[in-house]
Amino acid sequence: MAHSVADHLQVKIADYDRFIRTVIPGYDAMRAVQLRLLGHCLPARGRVLDLGGGTGALAAAVAEKFPEVSVEIWDTDPAMLAVARERCARFGDRVTMVARSFAEPLPPCDAVVACIALHHVKDMAAKERIYANIHRALRPDGLLANADAIMSTIPWVWAATFQAWSDFIVAQGFTREQADKYFAEWAKEDYYPPLATELGLLRDAGFAEPECFWLTAPFSVFGSIKQ
Ligand SMILES: C[S@@+](CC[C@H](N)C(=O)[O-])C[C@H]1O[C@@H](n2cnc3c(N)ncnc32)[C@H](O)[C@@H]1O
Repeated sequence: MAHSVADHLQVKIADYDRFIRTVIPGYDAMRAVQLRLLGHCLPARGRVLDLGGGTGALAAAVAEKFPEVSVEIWDTDPAMLAVARERCARFGDRVTMVARSFAEPLPPCDAVVACIALHHVKDMAAKERIYANIHRALRPDGLLANADAIMSTIPWVWAATFQAWSDFIVAQGFTREQADKYFAEWAKEDYYPPLATELGLLRDAGFAEPECFWLTAPFSVFGSIKQ
């Protein structure tokens, strides 16, 4: 499944790290939550998969915070992986890139993280299969911490949440029209399910106790421990 972030987000890849913070409220807050969760459960020489890891910012943060841990970035966009490769070169073979879809079977690991990546899976049966692959790959007590948008199905909550998201984008200097254009463009490839749907998929995929770890609508960090 090929994917071009430059086309999808209408951004130059070199500008991605700056741009993403202007359109995703809570981007850094979600990373802090993921790092804190990993700190509670990663073994010293643990192995982490970063699904849709893009330019490698999350992988680099993990490698930085946990000096003996290794991270595999899985991503299908060569342009994003090229930035990740450069950013993570200083970690040597502790951070590696896998140019493959996160829908493929995954290798054994101690934790799986993803940040605004799994919303590219619009088919919920396919998403459940990805969660089942993650469950299989994790060792017992391993962590899944997925940072992503979730959206209510209650129409006025849905509308109010998009309004708040749009307000955030406008506050970064974009026009309201530009914010609306982004939402329309992203909707072609993205789907933000309700939190209850995500937790249900995780349960059906084998996670006994799916959990929301952090939520400031529409962004959330959710996942589970493999029991
Ligand atoms: C919005 S970017 C997020 C990148 C990074 N995780 C971050 O937090 O900045 C979404 C990433 O998911 C990747 N992606 C989309 N579909 C994918 C798939 N099926 N398998 C692997 N990566 C995928 C894209 O190439 C892109 O790098």
